[in-house]
Amino acid sequence: MYVCICNALTDSEIAEASRRGARTVQEAYAVLGVEINCGQCKCMAQDIINAAEPAYMMQAAE
Ligand code: FES
Repeated sequence: MYVCICNALTDSEIAEASRRGARTVQEAYAVLGVEINCGQCKCMAQDIINAAEPAYMMQAAE
């Protein structure tokens, strides 16, 4: 599902950026090589980041 129309980012891409260590929308978009434009997606993107477990948490649980 597209979350950020300006940058054509999906929820999967934002979650992957979170798993790679991004904890804010700005950090996630930087990981993905884009910048926040209009900002309409920020709340949903932050919810996705908050829900995604960072990779180091997944490794610790193994
Ligand atoms: S919809 Fe994400 S910056 Fe515009």
